[in-house]
Amino acid sequence: MTHAATATQPDSGEIFLELHDLHKSFGPNHVLRGIDLSVHRGQIFTLLGGSGTGKSVLLKHIIGLLHPDRGRVCVEGAEVTDLRERDWVEVRKHIGFVFQGAALFDSLSVLENVAYALREHLHLTPQEIRLRVAACLESVGLVGIEHLMPAELSGGMRKRVGVARAIALEPSAVLYDEPTTGLDPANSKRIGQLIVDLRARLGVTSIIVTHDLDLCFAISDRIALLENGRLVAEGTPDEIRSSPREDVQAFLDGGSDLEADDVWLGRDGEDADGA
Ligand SMILES: Nc1ncnc2c1ncn2[C@@H]1O[C@H](COP(=O)(O)OP(=O)(O)O)[C@@H](O)[C@H]1O
Ligand SMILES: [Mg+2]
Repeated sequence: MTHAATATQPDSGEIFLELHDLHKSFGPNHVLRGIDLSVHRGQIFTLLGGSGTGKSVLLKHIIGLLHPDRGRVCVEGAEVTDLRERDWVEVRKHIGFVFQGAALFDSLSVLENVAYALREHLHLTPQEIRLRVAACLESVGLVGIEHLMPAELSGGMRKRVGVARAIALEPSAVLYDEPTTGLDPANSKRIGQLIVDLRARLGVTSIIVTHDLDLCFAISDRIALLENGRLVAEGTPDEIRSSPREDVQAFLDGGSDLEADDVWLGRDGEDADGA
């Protein structure tokens, strides 16, 4: 693995991701309105923001599932903004993605879910695949569940299998979209520990989108808040906590009560927080 050297130096100073003046609209909906961001290799970076502010849209630009209307995306020092689809496949081999809801293939066993990218990209024997899948499952604390189907797993296990699948190709970075939504505090903590372990063991860069302020402040090196299409604040956990900006403080006061996206949906003008 190429990134092992950074394992003891979480922040190598080397830039993993850069976004320059990123804009994205869907029809009249101008979602991203000029995002500038850089994430260093080995960093744990968390993007906060209310529901529908464009957090998932931003993540999808990093792996070419969406393309910007304006601006640039650079991954590991190379500009990827205008890559052709077949070149994106190459970039995605280095970036694991844990989708919102930990979407697993329901008709495939845990083994086949985790092995999916291995079969697609590497020429391994069935025995090598089994060993690699077992190692990935072990690193997320799940042993001997290869034969189970997604429907047989708890929510926490499904998320962890989603992480095992994302790390199967030994990526240099993993993107997590709402990795703890719907999990109880114990399982949320476990996911956080897993993210920290991956960085410690393999120097993995992590970019996390979440509503979970406990997770965010427990593990992040840097935090940004997305609001009205822009990053209105960016800094260390201490800098964000002590931000003089009212919108940042309002988010921190209200955000911790949000368990899931739908808390904010369809409740226009209504205060999500009764306490
Ligand atoms: N593929 C798409 N086509 C049209 N609109 C989209 C698409 N993806 C996201 N949007 C819109 O972009 C906005 C931001 O969405 P999203 O990034 O999913 O928000 P969140 O911050 O909750 O992750 C929403 O208004 C959503 O409806
Ligand atoms: Mg989202």
